[in-house]
Amino acid sequence: MNRTLDYIFPNPPAGLDPTALDCANIPEHVAVIMDGNGRWAKKRALNRLRGHKAGIEAVRETIRCASDLGVRYLTIYSFSTENWRRPQDEVIGLMDLFAKTMLAEVDGLHEEHVRVMTIGDASALPDETRAAFDEAWEKTKGNDGMTLVVAVNYGSRQEMLHAAQACAQHAVEVARETGEVPAITEELFERGLYTAGIPDPELLIRTSGEMRVSNFLLWQIAYSEFVCTDVLWPDFDRYELLRCLLEYQRRDRRFGGVK
Ligand code: IPE
Ligand code: IPE
Ligand code: MG
Repeated sequence: MNRTLDYIFPNPPAGLDPTALDCANIPEHVAVIMDGNGRWAKKRALNRLRGHKAGIEAVRETIRCASDLGVRYLTIYSFSTENWRRPQDEVIGLMDLFAKTMLAEVDGLHEEHVRVMTIGDASALPDETRAAFDEAWEKTKGNDGMTLVVAVNYGSRQEMLHAAQACAQHAVEVARETGEVPAITEELFERGLYTAGIPDPELLIRTSGEMRVSNFLLWQIAYSEFVCTDVLWPDFDRYELLRCLLEYQRRDRRFGGVK
């Protein structure tokens, strides 16, 4: 923990007790499927992009709170390989929002010692969006605080195919040198994932009441705890994160064994 519970949760709503949180059992890696921006906007008769913009404040608060709690990796699903199917104005608006937000937030993140990286296929992003993420990485890559992993143009099947190709390439090279086909191990496969070197998330949160993974971290969530909340992403805040963490701490993680 980097700050006290009183500091992180100054005004808890009635019935929610921050001191119930076991500070020795904070997940090292939290992954979030931020969903419900469109419905949030629709409820207010606003354009969907207004929902995405409103979601930025929830991202800001979640980053701050997770970092204060001592979470080491926070992965946020921002744009999937399937999200290109959305209307063009929404896609363009989202790409623009990513670029502008990254540029506006990077100094504040740097001050908090956050390291910003992306996972996904950055090559398909518009130049300004890719440049903003590249700049954030260049500026923050030496930081030793929480790593913020932004999943953008991310698809887990694509990622696993990428890893399988890397394994095949490795096998061909080794076979050429030694005459023997090497074993394809989990470690070797993981080296080909975008998340190489990052521990698997212990906790996966999805907002907006949906209960599916939508092509997110399929390999990495083999033993993650899922917490789904009905709250729409723009309404997510530190207290909702606290509820998710408390729910996580109530789970009995057995990993196939017996307790
Ligand atoms: C999540 O909110 C944000 C992105 C996928 C970029 P949605 O835009 O999916 O919101 P809903 O699901 O339509 O309410
Ligand atoms: C998943 O949300 C992708 C992101 C949050 C970026 P979607 O709203 O795209 O997922 P589906 O279509 O409901 O499965
Ligand atoms: Mg959605």
